[in-house]
Amino acid sequence: MNKNNDLWQGAGRRIHMQEVGTRDGLQAESTFVPTEDKIALVNALSDAGLAKIEVTSFVSPKAIPALRDAEQVLREIRRVPGVVYTALVPNVRGAERAIESKADELNLVMSASESHNLSNLRMTREQSYAGLADVVKAVQGTGVAINVSLSCTFGCPMEGDVPVPVVLEWCRRYIEELGAGGVTLCDTTGMAYPTQVAQLTQAFRVRWPAAELTLHFHNTRGMGLANVIAAIDAGADRFDASFGGIGGCPYAPGASGNVCTEEVVHALALMGYDTGVDLPRLLTAAGQLPALIGHDVPSQILKAGRRLDLHPLPKDFAEMAQRAAARE
Ligand code: COA
Ligand code: ZN
Repeated sequence: MNKNNDLWQGAGRRIHMQEVGTRDGLQAESTFVPTEDKIALVNALSDAGLAKIEVTSFVSPKAIPALRDAEQVLREIRRVPGVVYTALVPNVRGAERAIESKADELNLVMSASESHNLSNLRMTREQSYAGLADVVKAVQGTGVAINVSLSCTFGCPMEGDVPVPVVLEWCRRYIEELGAGGVTLCDTTGMAYPTQVAQLTQAFRVRWPAAELTLHFHNTRGMGLANVIAAIDAGADRFDASFGGIGGCPYAPGASGNVCTEEVVHALALMGYDTGVDLPRLLTAAGQLPALIGHDVPSQILKAGRRLDLHPLPKDFAEMAQRAAARE
């Protein structure tokens, strides 16, 4: 491809893809995926070149039974150098379990919306913040990185829009008061739209240019990929996504699948961005999901193939061409 061409908009710019399917995806499934299959999926995702993998979550096994094997999965995966293995953690108990299981990073979670925080974590936001401050203290000196995922930053399914200053104030408290290395702005129930995404991404980038910013979109209303591209244009370079497009928070009404990793990787590769992801390998991993979770997955690329996966000509094509020529 001609790299000076407008088609090569990305110009090789690096975009970090962070796979959350084995956490955000499998947490929502009623079928328990056997531990050895989870480990094989994470290994396949490592080989596909994802920058970061959210392997599992260390929450209450009563709240999320699908991930009750978190320790074993995180301990038994094969670690590929350069890939960051992270896990979702809601409290000190979860942090201790994750550190014992050799997580590279803890992904702490709270919601920017009071109603969603209470429904999901059974605490007020202030109680969550105090608890997560204790987690940060417990982690100090261990070399384990801290990211904070803020749910419902683009809207709450129960409260509506969450004001931008409220979202930025929680970012400030985590980055400036607790020293979190990264923040993820989560669109938990697919309420984000591209111009809103551009505004919040820009506002974050201007205030904290050195912080690691991740955007986490759900495709609930079909705007996931549009939101990714709007965020890139506004300065973002890290995205959570889920292979197969599975996912969703069981404690958020109307939640559905994350933006689909193979759809994002496919689109960004066409536009000239460098995601580092081997799409055929990723598709092989995603292709195993329907058998493991017992239903079809939303991925359009699994169904339609890649843009230039061409189809054979119709059987009677030569005849049609002859007939057309005879009509000349
Ligand atoms: N790991 C394992 N078990 C945990 C735990 C953790 N990190 N945190 C709490 N528990 C257990 C407690 O031991 C207790 O078990 P018991 O009933 O057998 O005594 C039970 O969970 C309740 O603990 P409690 O401290 O009273 O917490 P809670 O009921 O207020 O629950 C959460 C708070 C956040 C721990 C729980 O609601 C949870 O894990 N939710 C899952 C949230 C989630 O993953 N959402 C989707 C992703 S955003
Ligand atoms: Zn999510």
